[in-house]
Amino acid sequence: MEIERIQLETHGDRRGMLVSLEPSHNVPFDIRRVYYIFATREGVRRGQHAHRRLTQMAVAVRGAVTVMLDDGHGPVETRLCDPAQGLLIGRMVWRELYDFTDDCVLMVLADHAYDPADYIADYDQFLRESRTVAYAEGVVAW
Ligand code: TYD
Repeated sequence: MEIERIQLETHGDRRGMLVSLEPSHNVPFDIRRVYYIFATREGVRRGQHAHRRLTQMAVAVRGAVTVMLDDGHGPVETRLCDPAQGLLIGRMVWRELYDFTDDCVLMVLADHAYDPADYIADYDQFLRESRTVAYAEGVVAW
């Protein structure tokens, strides 16, 4: 799958930098929730799930983290380390987050409220559901 990054305009002056996030400007969905992950312990792997309908955008506002994404056709990996770059994570994408730096603060914007029923936490179940979705949308036929 393609990694989708959004370059965020920075407003810099001699005082420093500022990034603004706005739906219809640089966030391609209505923001219904914001959460952030920080103080992550060494060696921790987070995520390890997919969402049936949730779209998110992740920004490493401080530090760095590696994100693995898999839409059912194999994993791709990217390192987030730039507070002026957003990573889009669409629905039905398996994600894993690891190699957090000690200082990492990963902010995530989401287009829906928190809903535990939207999680797919089992990889084989994810593969089954993603094939069903692809079949229903006519992307694949088998
Ligand atoms: P979890 O989804 O397991 O985090 P990750 O997948 O990044 O490892 O969430 C960790 C805990 O936080 C879990 O108890 C659910 C809770 N939580 C919320 O209450 N609201 C939220 O928006 C999110 C993302 C998690």
